[in-house]
Amino acid sequence: MISLVNWFVRRAVSTEKTPRLHIAILRQLPLLRRLLRDRSLDGWFRRHPFDMRHGTDTGGYVAARDLRSGEASDPYITGYAGCSPGIVRRMLEQVPSPATTSFVDLGCGKGRALIVATEFGFRKVVGVELSPDLCQAARANAEIIATRFPERAGIEIVQGDAVAFTLPAGPLAIFLYHPFHRVLMQRLAERLAAMRLAEACAVHILYCNAVFADIFDRVPGFEPVFAGTVACDPAERGYAPADEEPAAIWRIAPISKS
Ligand SMILES: C[S@@+](CC[C@H](N)C(=O)[O-])C[C@H]1O[C@@H](n2cnc3c(N)ncnc32)[C@H](O)[C@@H]1O
Repeated sequence: MISLVNWFVRRAVSTEKTPRLHIAILRQLPLLRRLLRDRSLDGWFRRHPFDMRHGTDTGGYVAARDLRSGEASDPYITGYAGCSPGIVRRMLEQVPSPATTSFVDLGCGKGRALIVATEFGFRKVVGVELSPDLCQAARANAEIIATRFPERAGIEIVQGDAVAFTLPAGPLAIFLYHPFHRVLMQRLAERLAAMRLAEACAVHILYCNAVFADIFDRVPGFEPVFAGTVACDPAERGYAPADEEPAAIWRIAPISKS
């Protein structure tokens, strides 16, 4: 470790005409970060077969500290990585009547789950994302998909806070891939519970890497449909730190107005 630091200092100084050591070292931080990166994340940096097939870029991992947007919800971001397409498909198969349902990915990142949702014939496909850079990447991916598959629903990307987003009217499939920490997840559950009282429509919550599943389990009227682990496709193994994810699905039954 000491020799690594020495090497860095030497490299930093040698690349500066007027060596101001601390500034020079700071400039090398991205490289240092890459060198010290957690090796278990390497799978996320391999070009995913899904991207190779579509010509998109939904890969990589971005730490929470690099996703700051200036919004009040910044401290609760978990980080960016795309969910394995095979896992998203297994979960979406549980949604009845996609043709009348809007799919919303709260924390859509570069749009990988949104692209998978377009395979299912949803009425609308919408992603909400806090990071402007990831929104830009998601829009570029959405354009590629719209060109390749003009018959599918177009993907809409909204930049903003998922918990403040006004959800489309009518039946909904809300997808979450561990986007934010407990405080925000609790706030989201409260909003969805209030919506159930106000609107008579069926809502499915599809939560992958369901770290805070207990929050939804405790809300009256949120009926568990599935809880367990979901595996990626065999061809997707090795493109994420884990080949399966804990997942849960709830149905929010509408309250009858009669
Ligand atoms: C683990 S990634 C999931 C990406 C995508 N759902 C997928 O499966 O391909 C979580 C994403 O949620 C975003 N995020 C975190 N908090 C958010 C918030 N309050 N509003 C909108 N997006 C948020 C992060 O910036 C990150 O891109």
